[in-house]
Amino acid sequence: NILVLDYGSQYTQLIARRVRELKVHSEILPWDAPVETILSRHPKGIILSGGPASATAPGAPTIDGRLLDGSVPVLGICYGMQLLAHVLGGKVRKGASAEYGASVVRVTAAGNPLLRGLPATFQAWMSHWDEVAAVPTGFSVHAESESGAPAAFSGRDGKVLALQFHPEVVHTEGGLDVLRNFLFDVCRCEESWNLSGWVDQMTSEIAAKVGGDRVVCGLSGGVDSTVAAVLTSRAVGDRLECIFVNNGLLRKDEARSVLDLYREKLKLKVHYVDASQTFLSRLEGVVEPERKRKIIGETFVRVFEAKAAEIGGAQWLLQGTLYPDVIESGFKGKGASVIKTHHNVGGLPDDIAFGLLEPLRDLFKDEVRAIGALMDVPGAILGRHPFPGPGLAVRCLGEVSPGRLDVLREADAIFAEEIVAAGLYDRMWQAFCVLLPVRTVGVMGDVRTYAEAVVLRAVHSQDGMTADWVRLSPELLDRVSRRICNEVEGVNRVVLDVTSKPPATIEWE
Ligand code: XMP
Repeated sequence: NILVLDYGSQYTQLIARRVRELKVHSEILPWDAPVETILSRHPKGIILSGGPASATAPGAPTIDGRLLDGSVPVLGICYGMQLLAHVLGGKVRKGASAEYGASVVRVTAAGNPLLRGLPATFQAWMSHWDEVAAVPTGFSVHAESESGAPAAFSGRDGKVLALQFHPEVVHTEGGLDVLRNFLFDVCRCEESWNLSGWVDQMTSEIAAKVGGDRVVCGLSGGVDSTVAAVLTSRAVGDRLECIFVNNGLLRKDEARSVLDLYREKLKLKVHYVDASQTFLSRLEGVVEPERKRKIIGETFVRVFEAKAAEIGGAQWLLQGTLYPDVIESGFKGKGASVIKTHHNVGGLPDDIAFGLLEPLRDLFKDEVRAIGALMDVPGAILGRHPFPGPGLAVRCLGEVSPGRLDVLREADAIFAEEIVAAGLYDRMWQAFCVLLPVRTVGVMGDVRTYAEAVVLRAVHSQDGMTADWVRLSPELLDRVSRRICNEVEGVNRVVLDVTSKPPATIEWE
C-alpha cells in the first residue's frame, strides 16, 4: 500500500491513479492526518504531492519529522520536494521566474534509483515558483532543471527522495518509469492490485455484510450506479430492488432505452417511477439555477423514499459513491466555495433508516469502467457521456416548462445523432445542447419568426474539473445547425459555445 499525502495539488488524484495503474494499491490522506493514522496503514511508501503553498511561509502545510527517519521511503513531488528541503535543513527560495509546463531536465549524477533507465536529458512537466537553493546536509543532487535548480535529490540511504517535476503527468517522458522505480525498487512493493480479484472479493464482502437482508438502490442510467447495482446483484441476486425515477428531465427516449437495458440485458429487478409531473409542477416558474437544483434534489429524495417504503423491507441502501467523492467530502470541502450544488441519484439525507453500502468508494472512475467491462456491462453505459443529476433542467435556461423541454430534447437528439454519426462520440467528454430563454428574429420562407436560440456545447476533459471546447468541423456545425432550425419548431438560431473551463463551467447552470 502506498500513501499519497495531499498538499492541495490538482494532480494528487492522478498520482494515486498512476500507482494503481502500476498494480499497487494507493490511498490518499490529507497532509495533516495524524502520524498514528498514517502509520496504522503500514504504508510501503509515502508520496508527498505538490501544492500551491510556499514551504517557507508561516503556517504552510508541513510534515511530521517522524515520517522522515528513513524507515518508510518518502518521495516528495514539487511542493513535496521543497517541503523536504525546508524541514530537513536545506534552503528554499522564490525562483527568478515561475517554471510552468514542459521543461528539460538534465541528469547530473548517477545513483538516483528513481532516474534509472531514463536518458541523460528528458522532457518533464513543471509547475512551480519556489525552488530548492540548497539541499539538506548529506543529501545529493542528481538532476537539474533548465534554471540550474535541483530537479531531483535524495538522501537518508536513498529512503528520502524528491523530484521538482511531476512524474504523474503524461507530458513527463518516462514519468511512469520513475514511479515504477519508486514502487518496486525503493519501496519493494509487489504487484497485488488487480480488478478481477477485487470483483470477487467485493462480491463476497457484500454477501457477508448483507446476509439475508434486502437492498434498495437508485439507478440513473450512469456508469456508477449501474456498476454498483450489477456488482451487488451478483452478491444478493433479486434481493436487490432497483428504483429508476423518471424526473421528466431526461433526454429523448432515455427512460425507455435505459429501462430496457437494465431489465433485458442486465437482468436487474427495476421498479420504474414516472414522477415527471411532480418534478415539473414543483419547477414551475423557477428560473434560478441553485433553486432548480435544490428542488430537484429534494423531490428526488421524497419520491425515492416513498417508493422504497412501498417496496418495503429493505435494510440497506446501495450508493455508487466513488473515491474522488470520498476524498472531496472528506477533506477538500474545508473552506472551498460552492460553485454548484452537485447531486446524484441517491443523494439522500443523513437520517436515513438504512445501512449504507458503498462498494465503489475506494475506486476511481476508470477503475469502475474497467470493472463494469469485466462484468459485461454494455459499452453503451460504460462509455456514456456524463449527464447531470438535475438533467435537462440545468440546460433549459429560464423556465423549465414541458414545451421548452421538448424543444431542447429534439435539438439535443439531433446534435447527439450527428456527433455519433461522425464517429466523435467516444472522442469527447460531453456534447449537448442548451436552450436559451432569449428570442431572436429570423425569417423562414417569407415569414418572420421570433424564437429561442440553441447553444451547442462540446468539450474535451479528463475529469470534468477543467475542460476545453471541441473544435468541431464547420461542415458538421453547418449540418447540425440546419437540421435543428429545420426540424425543431421553436428554434430559429444555433450558436456555438467556445469557452473553456475555467472561466466557464461545462454546464450553463
Ligand atoms: P460543471 O458544469 O460544474 O460540470 O463544469 C462538471 C461535470 O459535472 C457534471 N455535472 C453534474 N453531475 N450531478 C452530476 O452527477 C450534478 O448535479 C452535476 N452538475 C454538473 C457536468 O455534466 C460535467 O460533466
